[in-house]
Amino acid sequence: MAKNEIVASIDVGTTKVCSIVANAGYGGGLQVLGVGVTPSQGLHKGLVVNIAEAKQCIRESVRRAEQASGLRIESAYVGVTGRHISSLNNRGVVAIPRSDRLVRPDDLRRVLRTARTVAVPNDRKLLHVIPRGYALDGQVGVKNPVGMHGFRLDVETHVITAAVASVQNLVKCIRGVGVDIEDLILEPLASGEAVLRADEREAGVVLADIGGGTTDIAIFKDGSIWHTSILPVAGYQITRDIAIGLGLPFDVAEQMKIRYGSVMPIYNGKEEETTLHVENGYSISYRDLCAIVRARLEEILKLVALELPGAEYVKEVPAGLVLTGGSSNLLGIEALGQEVLGLPVRVGVPTGVYGITDILPDPAYATSVGLLLWATRGHEGEQSWQPRGLGEAFRRLFFRMRSVLLR
Ligand SMILES: Nc1ncnc2c1ncn2[C@@H]1O[C@H](COP(=O)(O)OP(=O)(O)OP(=O)(O)O)[C@@H](O)[C@H]1O
Ligand SMILES: [Mg+2]
Repeated sequence: MAKNEIVASIDVGTTKVCSIVANAGYGGGLQVLGVGVTPSQGLHKGLVVNIAEAKQCIRESVRRAEQASGLRIESAYVGVTGRHISSLNNRGVVAIPRSDRLVRPDDLRRVLRTARTVAVPNDRKLLHVIPRGYALDGQVGVKNPVGMHGFRLDVETHVITAAVASVQNLVKCIRGVGVDIEDLILEPLASGEAVLRADEREAGVVLADIGGGTTDIAIFKDGSIWHTSILPVAGYQITRDIAIGLGLPFDVAEQMKIRYGSVMPIYNGKEEETTLHVENGYSISYRDLCAIVRARLEEILKLVALELPGAEYVKEVPAGLVLTGGSSNLLGIEALGQEVLGLPVRVGVPTGVYGITDILPDPAYATSVGLLLWATRGHEGEQSWQPRGLGEAFRRLFFRMRSVLLR
């Protein structure tokens, strides 16, 4: 990667939009130059439901990141989520036709192209085709076959598709604020980049990013992605349960959850009967608040368990469950996770960046940071969302020329 390569990401979450500008130029590290965060509007369960409102907060978030960094965001890596996402594991095979039978990079591209030929209905599009592993003449477990010899090259891939309409709405919002899209990245893949260790991915690990509107799941095994899934329930539902259960306005319930939310009504080692007061006159029982948080969180964790590979999952994912996303800040979530899933559980905070990162070491920013890490860690060949057609090519050229002229 060239020196001083500026990259940007926009994480359009259900509760906040976070834009980050970073320098990916030096020694593989990512230096954050500016962050812009605004509360979201016009989003529901990870999807754009009001373009004008969504555009407004994306614009504001981009503006803040630009102001903080002193740079213009011309293009960005953007996260995608929502229950319209679906995934499957597919295979591809090609022959190595040349007499030396040497596998070249072009053969990898060819075999990935064959794995891409899954029947995708018109209303869906491919988001990612990620190679999980190769086999050369039947010998499985080959990580990189380039330079090896063989007659037949097989690839196993993880294929992720998204609903065209949902993607188009998001794309329209981002472009509507004058930012071009470098690539669209499935959010749990991004979060995984920011919070998982290589040894966890190798052993087998489940990642659950419990955000505001969605719980994004990714399961890794043998160093590569094995399963992805998006559940349309997360922190918003916890707050709504508190609001309805305790008769509070939504914003007061949110405030109470963030300030006191826990899976057990225990303070300093002993059970508390405390009544909690909020400035504007509301008061609630701490025990009731925790009981509601626990019930909803337990339900979310049970839904995560349903995504795991069969009854023997404990053996498949020995590195356990890594929780991230804003809702993983709830006190006691690790112990509850262990109880529900019978797996080791830890909360993952994003790492891998330096610079002006004041607010970023919080699980809520796993996706935002991960989008940049994904972009800079050589996943280029795995992304398949590409603007198509000549019109698009000209438009991209225009964006690039404009960015050169404005510098
Ligand atoms: N300290 C905290 N304690 C409890 N909950 C918290 C805390 N901080 C944030 N949350 C909750 O986390 C959720 C927001 O998380 P996050 O920022 O990861 O979501 P998002 O990216 O905006 O949404 P999504 O990814 O679901 O579209 C909200 O429901 C919020 O109430
Ligand atoms: Mg999120």
